[in-house]
Amino acid sequence: MYTELEGKTVIITGASTGLGKAMALRFGQEKANVVINYHSKEENVKEIIQEIAQNGGRAISQKGDVSKEEDIKALIQSAHESFGSVDIWVNNAGIENEVPSEKMTLENWKEVIDVNLTGTFLGCREAINYMLDHKIKGKIINISSVHEQIPWPHFVHYATSKGGVKLMTETLALEFAPKGIRINNIAPGAIETPINAVKFADPESRAAVQDLIPIGYIGKPEEIASVAAWLASNESSYVTGTTIFADGGMTKYPSFQGGNG
Ligand code: NAI
Repeated sequence: MYTELEGKTVIITGASTGLGKAMALRFGQEKANVVINYHSKEENVKEIIQEIAQNGGRAISQKGDVSKEEDIKALIQSAHESFGSVDIWVNNAGIENEVPSEKMTLENWKEVIDVNLTGTFLGCREAINYMLDHKIKGKIINISSVHEQIPWPHFVHYATSKGGVKLMTETLALEFAPKGIRINNIAPGAIETPINAVKFADPESRAAVQDLIPIGYIGKPEEIASVAAWLASNESSYVTGTTIFADGGMTKYPSFQGGNG
């Protein structure tokens, strides 16, 4: 637990499911004020807010599409009106779908880029403006992916978006370090969330993914939430412009294990 997070306000995008939900619950346990942005699964949000309240935190929700400027502005407005501050912003919302590149339509491409890349930029820009205006030495945490580094055939839009988030984070971190705003990425490996539900329901596909993970198991959302809490805390005070890979070793060339290569 990080006592300095108590009473801080955190906005998390795409927080009605998966990693966003786990981060909302974790920041709730830290007694932060949690602003849950959601796009779908409205039915989950009430439960998340209740659980946060039971743990002594406070939470509100705000529906919105991260790729729309007006929705991002409404999100920060609602956080400010409810809690009077925005100290931490987590750009978590993301989508993926499999399309061989030669068949990828402009619509397919734009859909993923708009949410994963443009949505992250809009969130960063809004958070930075707010933090500068209010002289807050805030923290921004972007959720990229191991595919900021690992190429992914059939997911060129996704890999491109996450590679873009990597350099966006590094560039903004450099630009705003003198103002005390720290900006970092978390790159999850394969984590048990709805984005992977169909793939992991098939035993063969699940086993194929598991073979890519040296630590031997598919990650849990809480294992990403704990990295986010650390990045938001004072314990990571000297960390900015970097990616923390929370991937069970997936990016460490597992095919070389056992002396191969
Ligand atoms: P998820 O599908 O449960 O969560 C994604 C969330 O984003 C959903 O709640 C969805 O409603 C929301 N969302 C989608 N479009 C939106 C929009 N336009 N505006 C606002 N919210 C929107 O999946 P998961 O795994 O929790 O994904 C969270 C993030 O983690 C994504 O950025 C994903 O790319 C990333 N990630 C996940 C990995 C995994 O294995 N689960 C691995 C690497 C990265």
